[in-house]
Amino acid sequence: SANSMWGGRFAGGVDAIMEAINASIGFDKRLYAQDIAGSRAHAAMLAATGIITKADHAAIDAGLQQVKDEIEAGNFQFKTALEDIHMNVESRLKEIIGEPAGRLHTARSRNDQVAVDFRLWVRDQCDAAIAGIDRLMRAFLKQAEAGAAWVMPGFTHLQTAQPVTWGHHMLAYVEMLARDKSRFHDARKRMNECPLGAAALAGTSFPIDRHMTAAALGFDRPTANSLDSTSDRDFALEFLSASSICAMHLSRFAEELVIWSSAQFRFVRLSDSFTTGSSIMPQKKNPDAAELLRAKVGRILGATVALFMVMKGLPLTYSKDMQEDKEQVFDAADNLMLGLAAMEGMVKDMNANREVLAAAASSGFSTATDLADWLVRSLNLPFRDAHHVTGSLVALAEKKGCDLPDLTLAEMQTGHPGITQEVYSVLGVDNSVRSRVSYGGTAPSNVEAQVARWKEALA
Ligand code: ARG
Repeated sequence: SANSMWGGRFAGGVDAIMEAINASIGFDKRLYAQDIAGSRAHAAMLAATGIITKADHAAIDAGLQQVKDEIEAGNFQFKTALEDIHMNVESRLKEIIGEPAGRLHTARSRNDQVAVDFRLWVRDQCDAAIAGIDRLMRAFLKQAEAGAAWVMPGFTHLQTAQPVTWGHHMLAYVEMLARDKSRFHDARKRMNECPLGAAALAGTSFPIDRHMTAAALGFDRPTANSLDSTSDRDFALEFLSASSICAMHLSRFAEELVIWSSAQFRFVRLSDSFTTGSSIMPQKKNPDAAELLRAKVGRILGATVALFMVMKGLPLTYSKDMQEDKEQVFDAADNLMLGLAAMEGMVKDMNANREVLAAAASSGFSTATDLADWLVRSLNLPFRDAHHVTGSLVALAEKKGCDLPDLTLAEMQTGHPGITQEVYSVLGVDNSVRSRVSYGGTAPSNVEAQVARWKEALA
């Protein structure tokens, strides 16, 4: 039989395969609360503008509340034949209140309806992401505060570069996450315009009040162009893009955790809560959560690319292709939130191995730059010459199989005769990090100041 919502011109029903490819109720039921909120705002506006009667509005509003209660109690029967959440809700409303239900869709289309539902949902997810990022920032901040002065090797190319502090490394992630958070704030602000009332694509001849529905749903204003309103999915793409960048940051720290927790590094011990064992190798403690986090970014960026591909060739305005927006966003949002929570747990629980970090910090000629800087400061060598002298001393130490501070003064002086005993004071890693006081540098005093700044910012 023909569809009760749109079947006026149809004689028969759709093929079962058509129903399977067309229906979105399997996933868009997640929009039920937004759908009902949008409908209630719309109905209230229709009554306030005299488009429907107060009595019809009262019946619609009470009926929608009942539908919501049924869904939340698990008593609602979602029907694939009714395609999507919009028609499932409306159809049940009709069963409950009868004729007035048919007046709800006046001056509205599923095109502006889905646009407003989805925006409301994505807006909430921006808030959730912001809160999740905030919690993770606090976890990193705690680590930074505890280890403001702990030395560890800093890397470039994953080769020992210069000694840095644990706190400084943790705060690097606080900075990244703060940018992630601001991207969600920005996106939220930009998406906070209400498409409801754009109707199918052209607006409506009914005297609706779009400012009223926009305000009722917490939007800053109604969208200004009805064509754009029903065809725009920028808000979803921005959410996905912000999620991808954030997930990429999580993945980078996850990668560091995988490396750091290996037997070869032993920089950190992960807690039992976020690792697993092996059924054959009893010594194993695998960083599974970190590995999965590293993989999640592929999925989240994949969702971003998928939606870009859906949108890039669509002529204005709505095309059914756009129904494919929701699963991508739902999946990305779920995995981002899970990733943020898992990372928060790992960061809270992880134990830095201070002795190993300190030993690693002083190996690999990590203070070679300090030696070069000393030659500049004390002997007034041009930096390029100092670099060359230091390089020759590194080569000598390497040949001897020792570290830079192990070279005798006589050996040092083969590099430059002006070198004195004083040079040894800059070859220690603690002195090295303490000297890096330039703004944004790794000195413990800087880290303490930044920790204080972030504590205030997150308070
Ligand atoms: N389920 C649809 C979607 O998610 C709702 C909009 C349908 N509009 C239409 N004209 N068929 O995109």
